[in-house]
Amino acid sequence: MDILLQGGTMVTPRGSFAGDLRIRGERIAEIGEGLAPEGAQVIPVKDKLIFPGFIDTHTHFDLDAGTFHAADDFATGTRAAIAGGTTVILDFTTQEKGETLMEALRNWHGLADGKCSCDYGFHMSITDWNEAVKKELPLMTREGVTSYKLYMAYDNLKVSDGEIFEILKAVEQEGGIIGVHCENGELIKELSRELLARGETGPSAHPRSRPAELEAEAVYRLLTIAKMAGTPVNIVHLSTKRACEVVRDARAEGQQVFVESCPQYFLLEDSKYELPGFESAKYVLSPPLRGQEDIDCLWEALGAGEIDTIGTDHCSFHFKGQKERGLADFTQIPNGIPGVEHRPALMYTYGVGTGKITREQFCAVLSENPARLFGMYPRKGALLPGSDADLVVWDPEAEGVISAVTQVQHVDYTPYEGMKIRGKPEMVFLRGRLVCREGQVTAPGQGRYVRRRSAGRTV
Ligand code: URP
Ligand code: ZN
Ligand code: ZN
Repeated sequence: MDILLQGGTMVTPRGSFAGDLRIRGERIAEIGEGLAPEGAQVIPVKDKLIFPGFIDTHTHFDLDAGTFHAADDFATGTRAAIAGGTTVILDFTTQEKGETLMEALRNWHGLADGKCSCDYGFHMSITDWNEAVKKELPLMTREGVTSYKLYMAYDNLKVSDGEIFEILKAVEQEGGIIGVHCENGELIKELSRELLARGETGPSAHPRSRPAELEAEAVYRLLTIAKMAGTPVNIVHLSTKRACEVVRDARAEGQQVFVESCPQYFLLEDSKYELPGFESAKYVLSPPLRGQEDIDCLWEALGAGEIDTIGTDHCSFHFKGQKERGLADFTQIPNGIPGVEHRPALMYTYGVGTGKITREQFCAVLSENPARLFGMYPRKGALLPGSDADLVVWDPEAEGVISAVTQVQHVDYTPYEGMKIRGKPEMVFLRGRLVCREGQVTAPGQGRYVRRRSAGRTV
């Protein structure tokens, strides 16, 4: 039987309009005013907004970080995602040294397949570049992996500038897109060593080991490499005003640069590192939280359309027993924070609700742009006949308070504890099926692998 969402407000990046939406099977069948209700299950959605399902293109579920294992696996992470209105996640598959890309991909399918409550795909993090790996790129395209991540920091993950240059060109041949973690890894190591030698061992030292300059320098270096390679590039989790300015300059010169940022860089300030005791370990992530000037710059850039996507970089570790293991040495605190569940409500409340961005811009950075950039549009990220009926019926007036006690994600804290929200998903549909109502996941485990096309190159 069809489902008819009757009398809602459809939101797209190009405008909002009142109307009905018919779901038939897994797809959107039609959108219009006064659609015939006969033979359909009618769901009145007056005063509600209808968004294309939100897409989080930056998660690390089931991450094996050496001595630590991420708190959320694909089952708990995607359940939290769908509870918050996210219908697709893209996680980062990581190639271990000596491994083929195909082996890495198989490993990640092993972790995710059959366990997900939202649809999912993978970026491939290349950490060990060689001729054999280069030959695997067409195979990755056939497997639906059309985006990659490279690290300029972390000894076990980072690739050299020369390798970035080569990989950018090779991925360009496949029409893929590369996201880069931009921080100067060598200087972080030196600064960390100096801080520890001075006895600054607590988590408050973390941001001083990774200052804004090290992100801006890496962004500038990356953009220089991409310019030489003649390819577009995506900067992931951009966090500083300095880096924002570097991007602005490059774009002004005609370079194609995509930018992702994350809710934490808009909503949490570096004063969290002054919290007493070990509490600030909850905010140890990389890049670290920044100052008010950076926050103001990011909001302004988001409002001006300079930030293309908002992901979470969800990488959850429990405070007790995991973060705590770095008590004697901040460099041993596993990096990352949770966020997959709360991204839509946070960005809606503090972005749309405060007038910093419009609901149409919210839709662009959480739904349509990620779908376009990562080869899923218009199957995902669109309110169009024929698109997957991944839909969020959003109650703009619903209020709540974020708390670890009530959250779905499987981690013992949230960095957003106590923050008020106004705007929540009332219903979430995944390919036409109602999977979540008022935050309760009613049909878990329905997620499917999304085989993606080549990246869009436009947002
Ligand atoms: O601290 C973070 N962000 N951990 C996850 C890995 C990364 O750099 O994206
Ligand atoms: Zn990163
Ligand atoms: Zn990440």
